[in-house]
Formats: sequence, structure tokens, C-alpha cells
Amino acid sequence: MRTRRLSFSEPSVREAARALVEGGLVAFPTETVYGLGARADRAEAVRRIFEAKGRPSGNPLIVHVADRAAARALAAEWPDVAEALAEAFWPGPLTIVVKRAEGVVADEVTAGGATVGIRVPAHPAALALLAEARVPVAAPSANRSTTISPTTADHVQKTLDGRVDVVLDAGPTGFGIESTIVDVTRAPMRRGPLGDGVPTLRLLRHGAIAMGVLAKFGAIEDATIAAVGSHERADAPGMHAKHYAPRAKAILAGPAEVRAIVEMHRASGAKTGAIEIGEATVSGLVEVLAPEPHECARELYAALHRLDDAGCDVIVIARAPEDDAWAAIRDRLRRATAP
Ligand code: TXA
Ligand code: MG
Repeated sequence: MRTRRLSFSEPSVREAARALVEGGLVAFPTETVYGLGARADRAEAVRRIFEAKGRPSGNPLIVHVADRAAARALAAEWPDVAEALAEAFWPGPLTIVVKRAEGVVADEVTAGGATVGIRVPAHPAALALLAEARVPVAAPSANRSTTISPTTADHVQKTLDGRVDVVLDAGPTGFGIESTIVDVTRAPMRRGPLGDGVPTLRLLRHGAIAMGVLAKFGAIEDATIAAVGSHERADAPGMHAKHYAPRAKAILAGPAEVRAIVEMHRASGAKTGAIEIGEATVSGLVEVLAPEPHECARELYAALHRLDDAGCDVIVIARAPEDDAWAAIRDRLRRATAP
């Protein structure tokens, strides 16, 4: 298959939408990372996503829609808190897991489960594509399974060239790490007359929206802790430790240890790069990320891609700060460096 790369424009959105409607695979930018889209209501189209990515079929996909009404149409139950979250964060990097409506999306999307993850992405190209295609679009990140997520069209083609019909290119993405995923299936449908009955929000994946920001909407239960380091079917299936990984051996280190560890590996002849936050303590192959979580997130995957492309055998990565705003970055670094 030849992959057509189109830059974002009205005609290219029409062409990409046509490919989607006809059951094709279209990689498109979202505000987080590039997604690998197929229409969610066609089993054969969805199966092509799993084939192209080499993704295990037990790992469900996020469905992307143009607006809240389209989201509600996919849900069997839409509790008040889902509406409140959607109103506050959509379009935006929050995926809401709800009970799925019967017969709307293919079973392959939800990996046979009774719930569906939905989001309205905040990217003009994604929104234009969804509006034009008028179908729900299942889209995981547009990379081969377990490799680094793509924040540019080049990253997409690095692992999926010849496996997708169209890549819609609108430059680098803004957030740079995936959406936060929250499960509201245990929340009551309606708040009581006195506002009683605080809904439970189960956090399934740290992401672009910090946990502290979500706490206003309910009681957060952090279900991500159990998922890390486990290859079992977790609450967010597919969130096992080894993920987002470069080809090189990646090692996590305290910021003050980076230099010594890099020098040790270089002394033994390994081509060794580093990712540091705020300032470089080593020379040569080093990527310095901003000491602010949003900017750091935007650059993180591109930095990993560059060091991988440079042919590093080893990448030493400085550990991120401990506070809530850095939780998603800590999570991705832990997964990138999982043995
Ligand atoms: O930012 C993002 O969310 C990007 C862009 C493209 O939208 N998408 C993305 O998809 O990160 P993916 O496939 O790489 O990650 C989706 C994860 C799955 O691994 C799974 O853990 C979780 O979302 N997920 C999807 N549907 C779910 C469901 N019904 N219940 C629990 N977890 C679900
Ligand atoms: Mg992914």
C-alpha cells in the first residue's frame, strides 16, 4: 500500500474523510499525539488498526467524535458527571469511559467489553475531519505497538509508512502526551437535590489533564498504580509497563546521577544519549527539556525519537519532579524505561 501524505487544508480533509468513510486508515493530528483512525462502526475497518499497529486485540480503542451529542449517542448511560467533565474539558485531552450503547461501535473497538472510551479532540484538523466524515472514529496513537508515540507526521511514517492510506499532516502536536482517561461508570446517574452523592472518578491513565484539576468533579480513585508493572488485564487494558519505549535501552536516573551513568556507559563503548530537564550536565548527545511540565510534555516524545534516530544504544533519562503536575511525565518515563 502506498501512504498518501497530505498537508492540512480543506481539500485534504475531504480526501481524508472519504478514505475514512470507505473503511480506510487515516492518521491525523490531535492536540495530544497523532491518531491512527478508522471508522468505529465497521468491524473490518477497526481490525485494520490492530493489524497495522501489531496491537493485541484485548486492548480497546478510544473513539473520537465531533461533539458532545455524538458522544452521548455512543453511551448507554451518560451520568451527570460525564456531562460536567465534557462541558469543562471538551474539545480537549480527556477521555471519558462510560457504559457503551448496544450496536453502535464494533465490538473490536471495546475489545468486547461493556464500556467505551470517548473524547472530542481539540485540534482543528481532527475536528474538521470528524465533522466531514460524520462517523465515530476509533483512534489509538499512530505508532506500532509499544514504540514511542508520534507527535509529528514523520514519526507516524517512521513505523506505519505503507500500512496506512493517508497521513494528514498539520505539524507537531501541542500537548505531546496522550489524553487523561477517567472511568465514570461507577458514578451515580444524577446528583441528589442537595448536590449529595459525590461521584467516583476512576483515573485509568495519567495524561494531559492533571489529576488535581479533575478533583473538583468528584472523588478520584487512582487506578493507574495497579496497572503499572502488570501485564495482566488491568482496568485500562494495554497500560502494562513496557510502552512508549525507544529501541535503545533507556535508564531512569536521579538528575544528579545522569552524568556519571552516561560516562560509565560511554566508557564501555556504548553510544549513549541523555534526556535532562532544565539544564545539561553532559555534552554530546543530549536533549534538554523545559523545567515546566506542559512544555516538557510537548517535547518529550520528539526528544526520544531524535535520540533513537541518532542510533543510541543507551538513553539515560533524568527523573521528573514529584508533584501532581508532573505525574503524566513520570508515568511515561517509567514506561519508556521499563525493563
Ligand atoms: O490522546 C490520546 O488519547 C490518543 C489520541 C490519538 O487521541 N490516543 C491514545 O490511544 O492514546 P491509545 O490506543 O494509544 O491508548 C488508548 C488506551 C488503551 O490502551 C486503554 O488502556 C484505554 O485507552 N482504553 C480505551 N478504551 C477503554 C475502555 N473502554 N476502558 C478502559 N480503558 C480504555
Ligand atoms: Mg498508544
